[in-house]
Amino acid sequence: MNTAPLQGIKVVDFTEVQSGPSCTQMLAWLGADVIKIERPGVGDATRKELQFAPDEPSYYFLQLNSDKKSLALDAKTPDGKEILTRLIKEADIFVENLHPGAMDKLGFSWEAVHALNPRCIYGTIKGFPVSSKYKNLKAYEPIAQVTAAAASTTGWYSDPDNMPTQSGAALGDSNTGMHLLIGLLAALCQREKTGEGTYVYQSMHNACLNLCRIKTRDQLTLDRIGYLTQFPQYPDGKFGDCVPRAGNIEGSGVLGWTYKCKPAGGLDSEIDGNNYVYVILQRGAKDFEAACKAMGFEDWLTNPDFNTADARDRHKDAVHQRIAAWTADKTKYEVTEILGAAGVPVGPVLSTKEMMTDESLYDGNTLVRINQGGDIGEFVTVGCPFTMSNYQPQYGPCPSLGGNTDEVLKSLGYTDDQIKTFAQNGTTASLAEPKK
Ligand SMILES: CC(C)(COP(=O)(O)OP(=O)(O)OC[C@H]1O[C@@H](n2cnc3c(N)ncnc32)[C@H](O)[C@@H]1OP(=O)(O)O)[C@@H](O)C(=O)NCCC(=O)NCCS
Repeated sequence: MNTAPLQGIKVVDFTEVQSGPSCTQMLAWLGADVIKIERPGVGDATRKELQFAPDEPSYYFLQLNSDKKSLALDAKTPDGKEILTRLIKEADIFVENLHPGAMDKLGFSWEAVHALNPRCIYGTIKGFPVSSKYKNLKAYEPIAQVTAAAASTTGWYSDPDNMPTQSGAALGDSNTGMHLLIGLLAALCQREKTGEGTYVYQSMHNACLNLCRIKTRDQLTLDRIGYLTQFPQYPDGKFGDCVPRAGNIEGSGVLGWTYKCKPAGGLDSEIDGNNYVYVILQRGAKDFEAACKAMGFEDWLTNPDFNTADARDRHKDAVHQRIAAWTADKTKYEVTEILGAAGVPVGPVLSTKEMMTDESLYDGNTLVRINQGGDIGEFVTVGCPFTMSNYQPQYGPCPSLGGNTDEVLKSLGYTDDQIKTFAQNGTTASLAEPKK
């Protein structure tokens, strides 16, 4: 137990913000030695974004950079380039997500890194695939969501709220990091056979699009027959040329929706507006019967407007109205209990607060508490999302900016004098402001 899968793997982490760091944090949690390169005196932009205290790194940074080492390094100086070169020569993986063209300008493109160390795998994140007309654009989360047809298919479908809507889930950021992770782990397996590193290019667009597969399915169907039975627009509304926004439909052939419930009190306040439950009616007759019995709708079992899945799609408004009336005098937890016991797919709409205060989720991986020490103390983050029967990640703190600089430089063979010079000439420490 506890042989880390990536033990002995050295990662040079030239990433920042969320997409890249989410990937390298997973590499660290799987046991790799991750050295994060940060600009001296500046660091990853998220250190100072959305801070809870002026002198502390933000939760944004803390949640994405635990268990890494921080090397403050200006890769634009000759010494900085020399240090980075030494690091790369020893590395198994180099990862970057700077703006398009930035790594070429710094002199550490895939070709350059491959020439320095043919075994080194090179992972890169950009906004768009290289074939895209947008390939030179800088990108953040919403850019990925709007261009991968995620936003145009998300949100409300009728006025006044009919507008493209972004998902709360980081489809363009952390999701891209996880996609790159797949590519890097595949590249490591490939290197076992070939002895050579490969170039793994992951765009935020493609990572987001990979999660929008069912929307492309819907477009194909719409092109073919002109309507989509699972959508609120069917059968009475109009369909245009493209997949419409879907509100809260389940998305496949089963009928699902969010239904308002009685306030539950406690953490579930009226202001927050999360007194809802999601209920699904499966297509199968047996499942439908169980749902009808649990809600007291036995009359539907013999009613041709409701007793087949296709009929329910045609009468979905009536279905929703009746279920909504049934849930209205119950809390979302009560509905979940009643329908869950009957085998009906159901779940309460949970707020961040409700979810993060659920102690059962602190199981070692789902939500984890990391002790950062100092004034920050303990903070909560989302752990490694999968479990392995013979390996348990250990969750440690985040590095301070440049906190491992001397240690890393020493491991590369630099002398104390050289290390001092690098700090004095601005390679590893920010130069003092000139006195006026
Ligand atoms: C996120 C993004 C929009 C930020 O763009 P940005 O504000 O220009 O910031 P970058 O860090 O990419 O680049 C800023 C400069 O810092 C430089 N830099 C970064 N780290 C450095 C270091 N350690 N040493 C020296 N220079 C450094 C870059 O070389 C770049 O210089 P240049 O402008 O002369 O080319 C952009 O990096 C991007 O589109 N990345 C790809 C997609 C992505 O991952 N987005 C983030 C999703 S969470």
